[in-house]
Amino acid sequence: MAFEQFGTMNVNEVGHLEIGGVDTLKLVEQYGTPLYVYDVALIRERARGFKETFAELGVAAQVAYASKAFSALAIYQLMAEEGLSLDVVSGGELYTAIQAGFPAERIHFHGNNKTADEIELALDYKIGCIVLDNFHEIALLKEMLHEKKMKTAVLVRVTPGIEAHTHDYILTGQDDSKFGFGLTNGQAEAAIREVLAADDVFDLIGLHCHIGSQIFETTGFIMAAHRIMEQLVLFRDLFGFESKVLNLGGGFGVRYTAEDEPLAPEEYVKEIVAEVKNMAQANGLDVPEIWIEPGRSLVGEAGTTLYRIGSRKEVPGVRDYVAVDGGMSDNIRPALYEAHYDAVLASEPNGEAEETVAIAGKCCESGDMLIWDLPLPKSESGDVLAVFCTGAYGYAMASNYNRIPRPPVVFVENGESKLVVARESYADLIRNDLPLW
Ligand code: LLP
Repeated sequence: MAFEQFGTMNVNEVGHLEIGGVDTLKLVEQYGTPLYVYDVALIRERARGFKETFAELGVAAQVAYASKAFSALAIYQLMAEEGLSLDVVSGGELYTAIQAGFPAERIHFHGNNKTADEIELALDYKIGCIVLDNFHEIALLKEMLHEKKMKTAVLVRVTPGIEAHTHDYILTGQDDSKFGFGLTNGQAEAAIREVLAADDVFDLIGLHCHIGSQIFETTGFIMAAHRIMEQLVLFRDLFGFESKVLNLGGGFGVRYTAEDEPLAPEEYVKEIVAEVKNMAQANGLDVPEIWIEPGRSLVGEAGTTLYRIGSRKEVPGVRDYVAVDGGMSDNIRPALYEAHYDAVLASEPNGEAEETVAIAGKCCESGDMLIWDLPLPKSESGDVLAVFCTGAYGYAMASNYNRIPRPPVVFVENGESKLVVARESYADLIRNDLPLW
């Protein structure tokens, strides 16, 4: 197979790209373009991979789906079916999860500026825990809990002074981050003291950290686990505090293009668990429950976007632009992060490349380019382009820029497709507009 295949991708008997046993050209006929397609079997495989590895290693764990990667009723229901927990970062994600029927006790609420309304919602829904991020929030939540005569489970988010950028790890002495309490500057210790002192309203179950995203190695996670375990010894000695939970966040890398070489998700888990066990044993601590929060690695590779090719502009001696009927409005990542993607023609995914083209979006902005150098067979207006690995932070970060309606989302599994987010209509676009006259 010439192209990079994910999950259930296949080339069917008529030579078309198939996902979940469904011909992508049939999907386009039925639902139009652009279209986000999710390979449900691959999402399930990933979810089970994480969970089963913890189970095999005999460690109590929670795998919480970081739903900022893709938030919609259907994905919450799928993750609930798989027995995952959930990380939400806003009232909107929380509301969607609850509407989807996600068990409230498995929801964890993150964010560096949760509003009082959002906290109220979380307390009313009786969610599993709130991840405390700053001193303002400790005071606000304490006051709200007193008023409501409630007690809630909390984690304290710490910045261990490690930042991972795919292959590099930066040790940041002064913990320069908008998130969490610094471990090295004493803020984490002060926060824990404050939270433990308010044990009438707070049940401090553990610590949390998140070191970055799209990480390809285990080193950063091991460094973070090591540092936090070291600190837990200190907090035990200082406060008699025994952490039940150690949450190491998300960030496990995926393969956008052949240049990316992520580890199997299970590898990260194995090494994290080994480090936590070692440190616990060496320091006479109980092995805490280990929680992780993968987003991208659960849904990224499972998503493919199907576009219709439209215009073509040839700039002699420079490049040929091939434009599709979407772009930065459905995938902001190339424009925002210079992210790279790979793509094929859905009608001939294994077709021999005859030219290298630049895939342009349709937004009125020169920066709206999806792929700069894509080897492709000769394409024509009307052909369908399948861009891979768009399942994380694609739909989630989509906008109505240029008043382009957001594309629909379809789940495919076992030869069946199911529409889970409808295409926005022009009427949807003006739903909240109020006329001047
Ligand atoms: N937990 C916390 C506390 C996080 O901040 C994040 C991501 C995750 C978990 C999940 O990380 P993941 O496993 O998906 O890498 N929009 C960017 C990514 C921003 C990630 C922010 N936090 C992108 O498109 O690359």
